[in-house]
Amino acid sequence: MNKKLEKAINTQINFEIESAFIYLAMKNYIETLSLDGFVNWFDIQFQEEMAHAQKFMDFVNNLGGRVEITNWESPKNEYKSILEVLETSLGHEKEVTRRIHNLMNLAEEEKDYPTISLLHWYVDEQVKEEDNFSRLIEKVKLVKDAGLYILDKELESRTFVPINPEK
Ligand SMILES: [Fe+2]
Repeated sequence: MNKKLEKAINTQINFEIESAFIYLAMKNYIETLSLDGFVNWFDIQFQEEMAHAQKFMDFVNNLGGRVEITNWESPKNEYKSILEVLETSLGHEKEVTRRIHNLMNLAEEEKDYPTISLLHWYVDEQVKEEDNFSRLIEKVKLVKDAGLYILDKELESRTFVPINPEK
C-alpha cells in the first residue's frame, strides 16, 4: 500500500484509540454524577471509537500494510459538569473531523482510490458525531432552563408570614 497513506492512517488509528479512551475516562467521571443514561451513552461512544480504529486497521491489513500501535496521551479524568464533558467532546470531534479531511486531501493528492472510498464513510460519520454532541449540548441547556423554571414557580408561592408577637 501507499507508504505515505499507511503512515497517515496509522496516526489516525492511534488517534481513534486515544478518542476511545477520552470517552472511557468521561464515562467514569459521569459515574460520579449518577447519570446512568449518560454513562450508557458514553460507553457506546467508547465502543464506537474502537470500532472506528478497527475499521482502519482492517483496511490497512487487507491491503498488506502494517498497523503500528503507539502510546497516546493520558485522557483528562476530571471535569466540572456534564456540560463541560459535552463541550469538550464536541471540540474533540471537530479535531477528528479536521484530521479526517486532511487524510482525504492526502488520499486525493496521491490518487489513492481505495483510501478515498474508505474515507467517505468517515467524512459522513463525522457529520453525525458533531451533530450528536451539538444536539446533546442544546438539550442539556434546555433541561437546565426547564429545571430553573420549575424552581422559579415553586419560589413564586412563598408568602410573607408576619412574626406573631404573642408567640
Ligand atoms: Fe471516531
